[in-house]
Amino acid sequence: MSSVNVAAPLLVRQAVREHRSGRLDSAADLYERALSSDPADPDALHLLGALHLQRGDAMAAVPYAAKAVLVEPALAHAYNNLGLILKGAGQAAAAARCYLQATLVSPKFAEAHSNLGVVLKAEGQAALAVRHYRRALDLDPSLGEAWNNLGNVLQELGELEDAVEAYLSAADRMPDCDTVAYNVGLLLMRMGHHEDALVHLRRAVELAPERDGARHLIAAIEGETTPTAPRAYVRSLFDAYANRFESHLVGELQYRAHQATVDILDTVGGPARRFALAYDLGCGTGLVGELVRARTKRLVGIDLSPEMLKWAERKGLYDTLICGDIDDVLDQETAAPDLVLATDVFIYVGELDGTIARLARRMAPGGMFAFSIETAADGLEWFLRPSGRYAHGEAYVAETLERHGFRLLASRPIMVRQEAGEPLDGAVYLAVKPAGDGAPV
Ligand SMILES: C[S@@+](CC[C@H](N)C(=O)[O-])C[C@H]1O[C@@H](n2cnc3c(N)ncnc32)[C@H](O)[C@@H]1O
Repeated sequence: MSSVNVAAPLLVRQAVREHRSGRLDSAADLYERALSSDPADPDALHLLGALHLQRGDAMAAVPYAAKAVLVEPALAHAYNNLGLILKGAGQAAAAARCYLQATLVSPKFAEAHSNLGVVLKAEGQAALAVRHYRRALDLDPSLGEAWNNLGNVLQELGELEDAVEAYLSAADRMPDCDTVAYNVGLLLMRMGHHEDALVHLRRAVELAPERDGARHLIAAIEGETTPTAPRAYVRSLFDAYANRFESHLVGELQYRAHQATVDILDTVGGPARRFALAYDLGCGTGLVGELVRARTKRLVGIDLSPEMLKWAERKGLYDTLICGDIDDVLDQETAAPDLVLATDVFIYVGELDGTIARLARRMAPGGMFAFSIETAADGLEWFLRPSGRYAHGEAYVAETLERHGFRLLASRPIMVRQEAGEPLDGAVYLAVKPAGDGAPV
């Protein structure tokens, strides 16, 4: 059949039918034919752009989406599409402008408000993101994903009751979404509503049995101790927390473990001692790095959370930042650090044997190892607290260090930070790996 005489609008209508039925190849062909007939048909342009985007081919989508907004500036959907493409290409600010334009052209375009919320949140504009999510949901309360996103940003802003409401609204709209079930469960758990949290966490596991994070939290609530926190759980926890980690932990919760770890190194190890290579295990945003930078020639930070590492990177303190699990990195790296710091990270590692054995193998003779823990009651080796973090017994820590050849130089109790208005008990330790001949350093 020849396409020359068929009018573009007719071809576009046929294409849309194919597109809606999921026959993308046939739809693409019809859009192309419509554009041969009328290269400036705005619907064909923007829908073909959308189709390429749907196929995951953002590069192919760009020319169509860009031309669509040029030929028809009143086409809100075309701006929305272009926003999606630009966001996919990592151009958040340009994407935000497109979504904004879509909402200006069509103020009742709920999806565009929601998309604008997503990029605003990613750009750190949480309060503005809330406004656009709320506007989207006023216009279309059925947008389950927008309720979930609203929950995330309200949580980031510390508006926890409202965040729970938003997540529950998302769960009503998306009862089979494991992420939403997990989000509600995690938040309720943080707020201390353990029984309610269990309902949602169990639902998350039912929907996605591979959800280790939900299993970890269920174990924590039910008093079952597991060897270590799942990596994916830790990563997503800290990725979500990174933006407010310092203001919340140091500012509001009076976190002190980083200072206490470096204090024990100073007072027992000697303030004048300098190091050639320091590893900061679970470096997070670099609070420990700030305190030890001047004492070491090279400083390497290791962390599971890419978002935490972005903050560390901005400080410009570390020579190298490695995104990975401590044990994996210790297995791969061949350097021999003469200082290892691990502040508030063993709270995510219950059984310390594996990590301490690796440090014993890897560290330079005479190297110092300073770290903090949350303290378990007397007689316990380690256990998983209902908070989802591990606490360690002092005798267990000392015995594990000794078993792997470290000599414990000192330990002292600290207040890690505030928890639910009460000081959270912990301890800092300083140990040394004896010199090769077994002589003390
Ligand atoms: C409470 S923060 C402490 C950050 C930093 N040490 C400080 O004192 O500010 C714990 C950090 O340890 C990281 N972490 C936990 N388990 C880890 C593991 N197995 N490997 C690497 N990083 C880990 C987390 O991603 C998080 O950034």
